[in-house]
This record gives sequence, C-alpha cells and structure tokens, in this order.
Amino acid sequence: MSAQSEVMEGIIYQGIDEFQDHLQKELGQYEYLGGKLYFAGGPRKDAFWTENIWLTPIKITFNSISEGAKSLRDIQRNWAPVLFTQYRRGMLIQEKLPPINQKERPFPWLIPDSFMGSWTLLDANTMLASPFCTSPFPGGKISFIENKVDPPSRAYLKLQEALVRARKWPQAGERCLDAGACPGGWTWVLTQLGARVTAIDRSPLDDRLMQHPLVTYIKHDAFTLKPEEIGPVDWLFSDVICYPPRLYEWIQKWLASGLAKNYICTIKMQGEGDFETPKAFAAIPGSQVVHLNYNKHELTWIKLADSTRDPDN
Ligand SMILES: C[S@@+](CC[C@H](N)C(=O)[O-])C[C@H]1O[C@@H](n2cnc3c(N)ncnc32)[C@H](O)[C@@H]1O
Repeated sequence: MSAQSEVMEGIIYQGIDEFQDHLQKELGQYEYLGGKLYFAGGPRKDAFWTENIWLTPIKITFNSISEGAKSLRDIQRNWAPVLFTQYRRGMLIQEKLPPINQKERPFPWLIPDSFMGSWTLLDANTMLASPFCTSPFPGGKISFIENKVDPPSRAYLKLQEALVRARKWPQAGERCLDAGACPGGWTWVLTQLGARVTAIDRSPLDDRLMQHPLVTYIKHDAFTLKPEEIGPVDWLFSDVICYPPRLYEWIQKWLASGLAKNYICTIKMQGEGDFETPKAFAAIPGSQVVHLNYNKHELTWIKLADSTRDPDN
C-alpha cells in the first residue's frame, strides 16, 4: 500500500521554547502534538508567540523512509524538519530531500521567493507536513553573521531580522525615525544602509553615532513629540521600553498624521505580558505581529507602505 494523505481541518502552531505558556493561553483550546507543536481546529487564531505557523497541514501515513521523502518531494521542493521524536528516522528522510541552507546570513539578505514547508514525525510511519507556513525561514529559524566590533548593542540583530523578514529595508537617503535609539544598535544598521536617521532618546547614543553625518540626535521623550514636529519619514522605528498601550496610542497619532510610510516597532512585555494590545496592533490593516528569533519577552509589529493585505498570506 502506498502513502496516504489527509488534510487536517485546522492549523499547527509552533511555539517558542521559553514562551509555550503564552501560546497555550492564546490558543485556549488545542491538541498538544509534542515538542513545541500545537494543533487547533478551525481558522487561524491570533497567536503571536510562535516561531512559525503551519497554515496548510496534512497528515501522511507512509511505509518507508523513501516513501516518506517522496511524499514531501511530490508536494514541493523545500522542506525543513521540526522533529521532537524519531530523530534518526527523521534525519534519514531529510537526507533524501533537496538540501536546505541553514548557515548564518549576511545583512541585508533577500529571502528567496520559494515556499518553505515544515514537517515532523508523530511516529515511525506518520508525518505531519505543511507546504505553507508564515515564516519564510527553515523551521522558523534564522541567524545572522555577527559583528562584534562596530554596533554598540546586540539589538541590531533584531532589526536586521525584522527587515529581512519584511523583504524591504531603508534605501540610501531615506529618512528614518529611531525612537528609543540609545545606545544605537538600530541607528547603526540604518546608517550602514546609507539612510538618514533622526534618533530620539533621553540618553545620548554611542559617540561614533553622535558624530555620524547621517545621524541627528534629539534628546526628548519620543511620545511627547508630535509627528508634525518631526515631519515626514520613510520609516518609523521604535524600540522604546514602555507598556504596550502607550506605544499603541503613539502609533495611532502617527497613522492619523499620514507622515510615516513603513513601521517596525518592538512591543515590550512587562510581568505576565499583555495579550490584548498585540491583537490591536495586528488589526491595523497591512500589519503583522511576529516573535522574531532575536526577540526576547517582546513582539515586533511590522507595517509596510502600500500593504493592505495580510503580509503572511
Ligand atoms: C532597548 S533600549 C533601545 C536599544 C536600541 N534600539 C539599540 O539598538 O541600541 C530602549 C531605549 O528606550 C529609551 N526610552 C525609554 N522611554 C523612552 C521615551 N519615552 N522616549 C524616548 N526614549 C525612551 C531608553 O532610554 C532606552 O535607551
């Protein structure tokens, strides 16, 4: 008998090691599959504490390693394993699939357009697979080649990931607002791209950035400066440490002003976390709220110019 496939009427959510409790809370009702994988029936839920979401899962029953691999290859080229059991058998299946590149990436790096599927094994003869997933990265994972000399903080990696995921970054000469910029990791990334940066923080940035010809520093509370005082920007960035509703209120002012085109903001959690404000951010047309590999207890809101559709789909 050959392999059998069955469409699963629901979605698989791939959690984050340290925040699985957050995903469980977001899902409410779910079936735990193992590892950090959860299945919930019905349409996609607002679940942001995920590494990846498997949008079109199917269950495949197969008899041999070759047959399992062929079942995946017959669907599409690119597959990443997310195993929590049957590791050896899983690796033997993966070896029979086209290789995927999981090396550290330079920045900027343009993600290829091809789909990246995810698969796992429930037991020796049962596989779950989804050709379409929200993350473009294999297994939801990416890492960048680090620069340990120039950036004044490691926060730069978070911005690099957000921009690569957005498949878009500031071009030379574009104007960026960097709110909560000190010590300057994000501003450093932006100057490397040749963008002009208005950096706002109560504390000054690293000396090299304070003297950088592309950087204008404003010592101020970012939230009490009106958009009209700053003027039009191509990109609005915020990594300010604040309660999420404060950030949301400020972003509403910018949206209403029409003065910013693209937005990337960190939604920082305090204590137990805020499960409501990320939903409000995600409801802004053309937005996505994601947990980046380089995010800690925080989420990232991304909204790109001229994007009114859900960027995940
Ligand atoms: C996580 S750090 C930012 C790190 C920065 N993105 C980097 O790459 O180096 C948060 C910053 O937000 C600043 N901050 C907090 N409240 C602020 C406010 N209301 N306005 C401007 N900056 C603020 C803090 O001074 C702090 O420097």
